[in-house]
Amino acid sequence: MVGKTIATTSRPIIIAHRGASGWRPEHTLAGYELAIDLGADFIEPDLVSTQDGVLIARHENEISGTTDVADRPEFANRKTAKIIDGETVTGWFAEDFTISEIKTLRAKERLPFRSQSFNGLFSVPTLPEIIDLAKRKSGETGRTIGIYPETKHPTYFDSIGLSLEEPLIEILHNNGYNKADDPVFIQSFETTNLQQLDRLTDLPLIQLLSNTGKPYDLAVAGDPRTYQDLISPAELAKIAAYADGIGPDKRAIVPVDEHGRLLSPTSLIIDAHAVGLLVHPYTFRNEAQFLAPDYHNNPEAEYEQFFHLGVDGLFTDFTDTAVRVLQRIRGRG
Ligand code: G3P
Ligand code: CA
Repeated sequence: MVGKTIATTSRPIIIAHRGASGWRPEHTLAGYELAIDLGADFIEPDLVSTQDGVLIARHENEISGTTDVADRPEFANRKTAKIIDGETVTGWFAEDFTISEIKTLRAKERLPFRSQSFNGLFSVPTLPEIIDLAKRKSGETGRTIGIYPETKHPTYFDSIGLSLEEPLIEILHNNGYNKADDPVFIQSFETTNLQQLDRLTDLPLIQLLSNTGKPYDLAVAGDPRTYQDLISPAELAKIAAYADGIGPDKRAIVPVDEHGRLLSPTSLIIDAHAVGLLVHPYTFRNEAQFLAPDYHNNPEAEYEQFFHLGVDGLFTDFTDTAVRVLQRIRGRG
């Protein structure tokens, strides 16, 4: 919706990427709650649909990487191969399970270098459960805890009769989130569904931008534009007609060379701000393998750089580190 005004804060927002995913298995209520306790402003559920149309928090609709489904003999015959966004994927898929079946599964840590000690403890949450948590923690902490849901594979879910957008908006609106200044951002790597969402709600929308490839909806439509094309000032102006901000890969703001050395920042933040778009880059992580060598194994140096460049928020696996740096910068006044 052109011209809608959204709540801006006097400081960048800290978005807990998949929860406190550096410390707990991603997309669990325990992970979201820890992120809130560590100071997150928003918690980020990626959303896919179950067979019976319930929105659950998973980054992939193939769920064996983050749950124990592969160890459940009762679900062995659900293993299958599908084409998702043009790629063949083999495994177990959320859309082949009812919510009752999903609730029997237990989450596990996806990344082998992170703690495996919480595997088997937590279930897969639904969007209403995540909203309930955000509201409860807002009351307990006296802070406003926002939610930042992402529609995953929207074209694919449309194609199997499990459209994500209508139930998402129904749940948000029924929970009192319906205004441009409510503590919600809805995000997508596709473009068409954000334009649809813009017609369905006044809630703020974020156009995610990858550093490679193109939005799958554009690929299906035969539109030649890539994500790289979408960060041009002219395309950013088009995005501003339906969205309120962009979520770029952080390397679109601070690129690296072929050796991983930092290059000069691009004009993306300035260009986006020039057309009224917020900028929320992803994903900030503490581990050395995710840090450019120029940060000398100090993840705080990366946050410092991006906060000084003027981001309006960022997605982090380690809310505690981001909050510490932000508090230090604000303390300098
Ligand atoms: O949604 C933005 C951020 O989460 C990065 O994307 O792939 O982790 O969902 P992804
Ligand atoms: Ca996401």
